[in-house]
Amino acid sequence: MYRLGLIGNPIKHSKSPELHKQFLKEFNVRGAYELYELLEIELGTFTEWVKREGLLGFNVTVPYKEAIIPHLDRLDFFAKEMNAVNTVKLMNGELVGYNTDGIGYMEALRQFKPDFFDHTNKEILIIGAGGAAKGIALALNGLENTTINIANRTEERALELAKKLKKSHVYSLEEAERYLETFDLIIQTTTVGMQPNIDEQVIRLNRVKPTAIVSDIVYQPKWTKFLKQANAQGVYVLFGIDMLIYQAAKSFEIWTGHRPNEKLLESLKE
Ligand code: ATR
Repeated sequence: MYRLGLIGNPIKHSKSPELHKQFLKEFNVRGAYELYELLEIELGTFTEWVKREGLLGFNVTVPYKEAIIPHLDRLDFFAKEMNAVNTVKLMNGELVGYNTDGIGYMEALRQFKPDFFDHTNKEILIIGAGGAAKGIALALNGLENTTINIANRTEERALELAKKLKKSHVYSLEEAERYLETFDLIIQTTTVGMQPNIDEQVIRLNRVKPTAIVSDIVYQPKWTKFLKQANAQGVYVLFGIDMLIYQAAKSFEIWTGHRPNEKLLESLKE
């Protein structure tokens, strides 16, 4: 029996239980994926309980990706670099933290447009500098001759992230909006535009490069205002649900050793 779950707040509308239930079904194993909406003060008692009960592991979402760290015994390389954890596994009585956000985004992008990785000299724009932005930026950092441009409301956080990258540049949100035509891949990583604030967007998408890919990690709604504007310009649109699915698949693999089938992952995007 695989006992899994998700902690965060709020998490009532999360799609993660649905995804993991499909994965459990694929491998024909008994299991449960429960939601635990916690207060920050409850993180310590929760992790003790996980050890006592022998859960296989759990996911962590906003706002606890960083706050969970003092309650864990070890971090893997990526989680340590990012100082953010979205997946925890109980191994020999120890809680080990991982981060599958960046790898999830990379896999979603690879499935969506494999030839993006064929050519180098790409200009990437990441909007935001929070936990999700960090994970994605570090995963993309391995690409050759690629500049990772960061635009964030708070410049200090953008500069802090840029320091960790091989080749980067920092813009204000206004500058990013002005230079949009420069970018080959634009990734919106803030929570702006998420339900119920669907009329908000962090920058307006005027004049995007015709060959650009525009993605938003917000998945509720699927068509954010940001992605609607991208679509109106006929560019490639990568949805937030794609990243959610691939990060979930990677978490499931860490916990169980089973990699969900690609056809199943494709079908969950609908
Ligand atoms: P997560 O871990 O989910 O990425 P986070 O660390 O709180 O969450 O980061 C949220 C990101 O969204 C940040 O880049 C934040 O900008 P600031 O660093 O300036 O706070 C950005 N963000 C949130 N609300 C925003 C808004 N109304 N306008 C612009 N950026 C916003």
